[in-house]
Amino acid sequence: MRKAIVITGASSGIGATLARLLGSQGHRLVLAARSEAALQQVAAESGEAQAVVTDVTQRADVERLRDTAIAAYGHVDVWINNAGKGIARSVLDLSDADFDEMMTVNTKSALYGIQAIVPHFQARGTGHLINISSFLGKVPVASFRSAYSASKAALNSLTANLRMDLSATYPDIHVTLVLPGVVLTDFAKNAVGGGQPLPTLTGPMTPQTPEEVAAAIARVIEHPVAELYTNPAQHDLANRYVQDVAAFEGAMRP
Ligand SMILES: NC(=O)c1ccc[n+]([C@@H]2O[C@H](COP(=O)([O-])OP(=O)(O)OC[C@H]3O[C@@H](n4cnc5c(N)ncnc54)[C@H](OP(=O)(O)O)[C@@H]3O)[C@@H](O)[C@H]2O)c1
Repeated sequence: MRKAIVITGASSGIGATLARLLGSQGHRLVLAARSEAALQQVAAESGEAQAVVTDVTQRADVERLRDTAIAAYGHVDVWINNAGKGIARSVLDLSDADFDEMMTVNTKSALYGIQAIVPHFQARGTGHLINISSFLGKVPVASFRSAYSASKAALNSLTANLRMDLSATYPDIHVTLVLPGVVLTDFAKNAVGGGQPLPTLTGPMTPQTPEEVAAAIARVIEHPVAELYTNPAQHDLANRYVQDVAAFEGAMRP
């Protein structure tokens, strides 16, 4: 079915790749990010798509994004909180500003999205909210990502609590948490203090392409689930982490 879909962080990486894929499938899109030229370019490559310059750290911008989407297509079926930013700084080196930025860009932005769109879903009795988190939000094994992993862990909790609150009274409103591992985008380069090369990752930690992650998100739009590890091998890894954290951390030590 053709859906009206909002994607934040659509000017690059996973969001841009997802926009092109969903556009090619005939969905109608509203795309948000701050970089206007890049966003317009992605919109031009994504079928029926509008670009709305948005800073997701500003609640008024996120509400304007919702209003623009509803004005364009009459309603919103799917809202994807994808915008995000990393950090390359260990816990002892974090400044107040570092911590605040991670929580604002990765967690508060999604809260603004939730609070903007869920009342619309409730009024319609249907809708799908998708929050893009990270494997590191469940298994914080890359210590240099510190406050980033913490911000995604907070997002995981908000997502689960929202789903619990809605499920009894709104069975047709779906809430999905997506947990990618390392994805081959400019994420590491764009991280605060970023730019250094990643270690070689193999086995279940092998990086995915944005196309693989976008395809997994497109499938979840068709078949909603509560949580999705875009690399299924990482679900097992997360279970092993929970079973014995000390052993897991020991195995990760260089
Ligand atoms: N790549 C990975 O390894 C990986 C792994 C797990 C999870 N993720 C998550 O996947 C999502 C997408 O990341 P990516 O890999 O595609 O990285 P990316 O290429 O750096 O894309 C990040 C996107 O977020 C947007 N953004 C950042 N701050 C924003 C703001 N204040 N307002 C509006 N948009 C903002 C950027 O657009 P503008 O700069 O134009 O605003 C850009 O479109 C993020 O939530 C990230 O945490 C990524």
